[in-house]
Amino acid sequence: MAEAINGVSVAALRVGICGYGYWGPNIVRNLSAIDQCEVVAICDRNPNALTRAQKLYPAVRMTTDPADVLEAADIDAVAIVTPVWTHFDLAKRALENGKHVFVEKPFTSTSAQACELIELAARKKLQIMVDHTFLFSGAVRKIRELVDNGTLGQLYYFDSTRVNLGLFQHDVSVVWDLAPHDLAIMDYVISDEPEAIVATGGNHFNALADMAYITVFFPGNVTAHINVNWLSPVKVRTTLIGGRDKMLVWNDLEPDEKIRVYDKGVEITNGQSVYDLLVSYRSGDVWSPKVNNTEALAVELQYFAECVIAGKAPSNDGEAGLRVVRMLEAAEQSQKDRGRIVAL
Ligand SMILES: NC(=O)c1ccc[n+]([C@@H]2O[C@H](COP(=O)([O-])OP(=O)(O)OC[C@H]3O[C@@H](n4cnc5c(N)ncnc54)[C@H](O)[C@@H]3O)[C@@H](O)[C@H]2O)c1
Repeated sequence: MAEAINGVSVAALRVGICGYGYWGPNIVRNLSAIDQCEVVAICDRNPNALTRAQKLYPAVRMTTDPADVLEAADIDAVAIVTPVWTHFDLAKRALENGKHVFVEKPFTSTSAQACELIELAARKKLQIMVDHTFLFSGAVRKIRELVDNGTLGQLYYFDSTRVNLGLFQHDVSVVWDLAPHDLAIMDYVISDEPEAIVATGGNHFNALADMAYITVFFPGNVTAHINVNWLSPVKVRTTLIGGRDKMLVWNDLEPDEKIRVYDKGVEITNGQSVYDLLVSYRSGDVWSPKVNNTEALAVELQYFAECVIAGKAPSNDGEAGLRVVRMLEAAEQSQKDRGRIVAL
């Protein structure tokens, strides 16, 4: 890393990418735009994917053999952008060969695999970053700020809807495909540790769930609810967060006013008995805070390069990935048992 050859300084971080399907091109495009990074090689099992990549990046080495990336002496870090079931093996080989790892969500297929990778990276003094892209979006950063600075007041609930028609995945359920986004955002916004999960849902075409309702219980009576569905006629990306002082709606499909903060709430006054509960409703101003529009993946990959070069663990490290995988496992278990409560 970070060296000068014949007096010419070269990129501080030389990166290889495994997987150039749907999401891989976004990773390569953003890495290529980072000054401290050099994309050295792209690997995909599918030669057609490499033909597409070669047209855009003629100077980059193309290969169908993962070893040419995972074991290459001229590569410092590997981005793993392949299907979930391949993450563990590829990440393990990359770490064993001394490479830092940027790995797609969800981190691994099981929490045992996640623990093994975390331990291996620590032993080898290497960084793992799990791609929880939304944590680097202006909207989620703003929401975290509004929670942290007390604008919303004591939190009541987090309620997220991520539904659309398809895209059906062949290897994972809708829970493992879509819910990692919401669980990672929830984990970032709500600082407490979740206590338990309940999930229900259904599968209509094969053994994999295509719709799911996940409820996560936190201490202090805070509840999170996540609705993910591949069978929705319309695309919805809306999150409601209710606090005692303010409530907000984040509509990620809105081009401009993505977040609206409502000065709405409920005031309760107790009378003599429970029947005397006096409820009054507050309905004040609505405002839309400014949200940074920089592409989240660009911010995240810049942060990855900085973390690796500085030798510091990113906030979305293996532990953050493990927390999400644990919740996915619990949700899947609960759903199999038709909504049994699963302790975390
Ligand atoms: N962060 C996000 O917002 C986001 C969005 C989409 C997908 N993803 C994640 O990215 C990953 C890939 O998803 P996708 O939609 O691009 O899938 P995809 O099927 O479109 O692409 C995966 C590519 O990996 C290649 N591949 C498979 N096994 C390989 C191996 N062992 N070595 C090299 N190449 C291999 C396939 O040929 C394919 O081209 C998944 O983990 C998914 O969850 C993340």
